Amino acid sequence: MQRQRSNADILVVLGATAQHNFTLRGITRNLQSKIAQELQRMGIEMLEANLDSLASLSKAFSDATYIFATTDSNQNIFHAIQHPEVLHPGQTAPAVTTPKLRRMVWSSLPSPRKWSGGLYTKVTMFDTKDDILEIIKAKPELQAKTSTLLVGFYATNALNVPELYGPRLESDGVYELALPMSGEIPVPMADLDSDMGKWVKALFEAAPGLTLVGSTELITWAEWLRLWAKHNGVSARYRRASTAEYSARVEGISDAVSEEFAFIEQYGFTGGDKSVVYPDQVRQSGITIERSSMEEHIARCDWSSILGGHNFTS
Ligand SMILES: NC(=O)c1ccc[n+]([C@@H]2O[C@H](COP(=O)([O-])OP(=O)(O)OC[C@H]3O[C@@H](n4cnc5c(N)ncnc54)[C@H](OP(=O)(O)O)[C@@H]3O)[C@@H](O)[C@H]2O)c1
Repeated sequence: MQRQRSNADILVVLGATAQHNFTLRGITRNLQSKIAQELQRMGIEMLEANLDSLASLSKAFSDATYIFATTDSNQNIFHAIQHPEVLHPGQTAPAVTTPKLRRMVWSSLPSPRKWSGGLYTKVTMFDTKDDILEIIKAKPELQAKTSTLLVGFYATNALNVPELYGPRLESDGVYELALPMSGEIPVPMADLDSDMGKWVKALFEAAPGLTLVGSTELITWAEWLRLWAKHNGVSARYRRASTAEYSARVEGISDAVSEEFAFIEQYGFTGGDKSVVYPDQVRQSGITIERSSMEEHIARCDWSSILGGHNFTS
């Protein structure tokens, strides 16, 4: 669909077909995919580009005023690649090819390697995002326009990756959520449908240099489970899983995932970074971010795939 360009601001969204939702110009490797087609039908200008091709990104970025940038480090984890993700050259493209750029939001994650002082080195899907942030920071003209978003655990993980995050029906009729960390430590959980766009918009509006934690709610796993069980009218309990047990659930990712949980338990999701802000602090500075909650998210979801009795232990 050809849209009127004129002088309108252009927001370019990398990973437009990912689970975070917002609009305008989306980048995809495959314009024919179902999601890309759906976005086009919604009136979003979709461009084909690849993070591996600087030329394709330069075309997509050349007239951008705002950029939401991300890289899909999940490709590491689910393909069980043991080496850090290739640093895509395209991530630095905006510095030289976007004269109209006002703000870039880099969707990052805290680096366990950095915050643990080298104790945890295998959480490469987190570390590589922070490595790219360092590249951005080394370019003064880009750093001056960049803010960072650290998105918490996707609230949809229980549905989309039930083998890792879903409550499971045990033989005593109780749904059990078993993760390799304490259930009593608050972690940021993110309702992407409800909040992702609001967080990025707030970062576009605020002065650059902010690091915002994408947290709909700081909540413990045990409390999330209590809300989930109450909504679904079932009994549930939280149990700390052993690392070996958890690792066996998805082949090939054991070291990365068990270190991720160990890091978060020991250092907290942000590793103790004192510079981060949460949505509440941004609200206090006068920028509006509407509130939502895990309870609302749970109520909105269809849990039948889990309540249908998946028992992953059998
Ligand atoms: N799950 C969580 O709890 C969590 C929490 C915080 C952060 N994250 C991070 O969020 C990121 C995205 O996860 P998701 O589950 O939302 O993603 P997803 O649904 O798997 O989508 C991945 C996106 O990346 C795009 N992409 C991948 N490789 C690309 C390439 N070479 N060039 C251009 N685009 C490319 C894909 O576009 P096309 O396929 O259309 O080309 C797609 O839009 C991951 O890096 C993950 O680490 C996840």
